[in-house]
Amino acid sequence: MRISLTDHCNLRCVYCMPLDDLHFARKEELLTAPEIETVVRAAVSVGFRKFRLTGGEPTLRPDLLEIVGRLGEVEGVGDLALTTNALLMPKLARPLKDAGLNRINIHLDSLNPKTVERQMRWGTFDQIWRGIMAAEEAGLVPIKLNAVVTAGYNETDVVDLARLTLDRDWHVRFIELMPLGGGECATLSVQRYVSNIETRRRIEAEIGPLTALSSSYISDEARNFQLPNARGVIGFISPVSEPYCGTCNRMRLTADGKFHLCLLNDDELDVRKALRDYSSDGITRVARILERAVAMKPTGHHLLDGRSTRERSMFQIGG
Ligand code: 5AD
Ligand code: SF4
Repeated sequence: MRISLTDHCNLRCVYCMPLDDLHFARKEELLTAPEIETVVRAAVSVGFRKFRLTGGEPTLRPDLLEIVGRLGEVEGVGDLALTTNALLMPKLARPLKDAGLNRINIHLDSLNPKTVERQMRWGTFDQIWRGIMAAEEAGLVPIKLNAVVTAGYNETDVVDLARLTLDRDWHVRFIELMPLGGGECATLSVQRYVSNIETRRRIEAEIGPLTALSSSYISDEARNFQLPNARGVIGFISPVSEPYCGTCNRMRLTADGKFHLCLLNDDELDVRKALRDYSSDGITRVARILERAVAMKPTGHHLLDGRSTRERSMFQIGG
């Protein structure tokens, strides 16, 4: 289960958040820390084991440490991870680890400071890199980096990102652009789409052949590979060129309390109402909604026609 904690972010990646005309959820619409804990207890009761906190940028939640602490103590939570742009990791990595966080995924599109400035807009490469180092030192490992490959921005920078795996035991994953929300970022995501077939070819031409690793987890959205003599892993997440709907076991909880059944469709079930309309036995009620949500998960998307969601953008779902 991927749990979005906020729709705010301290970056403005070109394919994710426009600079103007942003609308954010009101504070009272966001699920509180105790409400999130109730959802997680319900999720564990119906079989969920892996949880990931996302955003927008989850480290902007003032009560992040409280949330991690609460979820870390729920019996049955096997894995608790966070997706972040790492800007605040120098301050937060150690406290997060101490609060019970296991791992983080860091979003970084390039090792070239100029590309980072153009593509991720606010924040700098140096700040993100310091965040990665802090996370590794705090033991939030294995470090996984996510790069969204975008034509005219970072499509040749993928080679240097891939090289990181030669002497570090990191996972570097390349994600295909997905058009979400129908706005300017969705348009850009269609126009600047780069297939992972091309990204793979580029990496192999420059560094060497990739060897496929057998997947240990059937619902891993990444296809994993290794460069010759590398310590780390290269992953390709290819929702457009190689859809994985058939093995997708993700459920998403939006910051304003809806189960979002599929990243690439608009279907949602309300959880917040069930949490707030009654005072007792929220866990059972949410568990029933969650069972329905899982049964209703759609299969198939419309990415090849350049469409997906209309209602929500990526920063409102959490990737
Ligand atoms: N297409 C693909 N991935 C995206 N992300 C954000 N916007 C897009 C998009 N349009 C990714 C970020 C981050 C995760 C939360 O979602 O790289 O890792
Ligand atoms: Fe923020 Fe992540 Fe979206 Fe970039 S991709 S704007 S870091 S939420």
